[in-house]
Amino acid sequence: MKETRVLTGITTTGTPHLGNYAGAIKPAIEASRDLNNKSFYFLADLHALIKNQNPSEVHRSSLEVAATWLALGLDTDNSYFYRQSDIPEIPELTWILSCLTAKGLMNRAHAYKAAVAENIDQKANDPDKGITMGLFSYPVLMAADILMFKADIVPVGKDQIQHLEMARDIAMRFNHIYREIFTLPQAQTDENAAVLKGLDGRKMSKSYNNTIPLFVPEKKLKKLINKITTNSQPPEEPKETKDCTLFEIYSAFAAKDQIKDIEKRYSEGIGWGEMKSILFELLNDHLKDARKDYEYLIENPSIVEETLKKGALKAREEAVPMLEKIKDAVGLKSLV
Ligand code: TRP
Repeated sequence: MKETRVLTGITTTGTPHLGNYAGAIKPAIEASRDLNNKSFYFLADLHALIKNQNPSEVHRSSLEVAATWLALGLDTDNSYFYRQSDIPEIPELTWILSCLTAKGLMNRAHAYKAAVAENIDQKANDPDKGITMGLFSYPVLMAADILMFKADIVPVGKDQIQHLEMARDIAMRFNHIYREIFTLPQAQTDENAAVLKGLDGRKMSKSYNNTIPLFVPEKKLKKLINKITTNSQPPEEPKETKDCTLFEIYSAFAAKDQIKDIEKRYSEGIGWGEMKSILFELLNDHLKDARKDYEYLIENPSIVEETLKKGALKAREEAVPMLEKIKDAVGLKSLV
């Protein structure tokens, strides 16, 4: 049986948080252990430039994201783990794909449309005010990431489904104009993956500044958990687990019987203070070994760098011949 190629990119903006872990990192690391899969996970640092023009933040985030995945036990022997900017074949493919991507298709991308709508809302005299070509053609770079490695399955958040449709569209167009080279990728959204709320009860997200970073020191973790917003019910009153941020985070990390016990405690009345310390203990138990590894890797970036360089070599064993084939198909080849 042919193995399934699973590929996903992690944009390197910011520090990985509990929401990233529950929603994306944990399922991805589990998938990488399935020997029927060939997994490709990469730091989308070229994509990061679209959102962040602070070089030291971009640089730091690559280290933090890579150290996080490694500390959580990604098996790099069994997967491809690399940094997008180490694979020059990707931007080269992006250009080739740009030359057959309809501009109208990009006009319909959600992120671009939202930026235009915002400008119109603000009564800007140019609807494209402040919008870079990077943001506009973001889906083409993403298509190159995916098509280069013939990915079958691409696990992503719901907001990325449209980009996968665009990648398929671009692939079909290439296959039709030139020859059948590209595999048509499929988005995979995990209905069971937890979407966690953050400190203020809105979705945990860097843009809301309400995250709990995965590997903050123990004391800081405790502090942050204590900051999670709760309602004003007194301790003895029975409580709903539904929509409770503390319960949601707890459930994303706890075993089934632990969750059952806590549900019982809620129905009998549990103080928020006590629930917060239960949550802290659970998270801390879960994270403390990985946190040590993470801290070690952050202190020793050369280990991370070496792993990424090895990953890039391995990825380029695929990318170099693939690009050659693509260039040949479009007529970019030796004269003799
Ligand atoms: N755009 C994705 C995000 O913001 C990140 C990404 C870049 C990606 N290239 C990709 C995801 C290729 C899947 C496949 O989440």
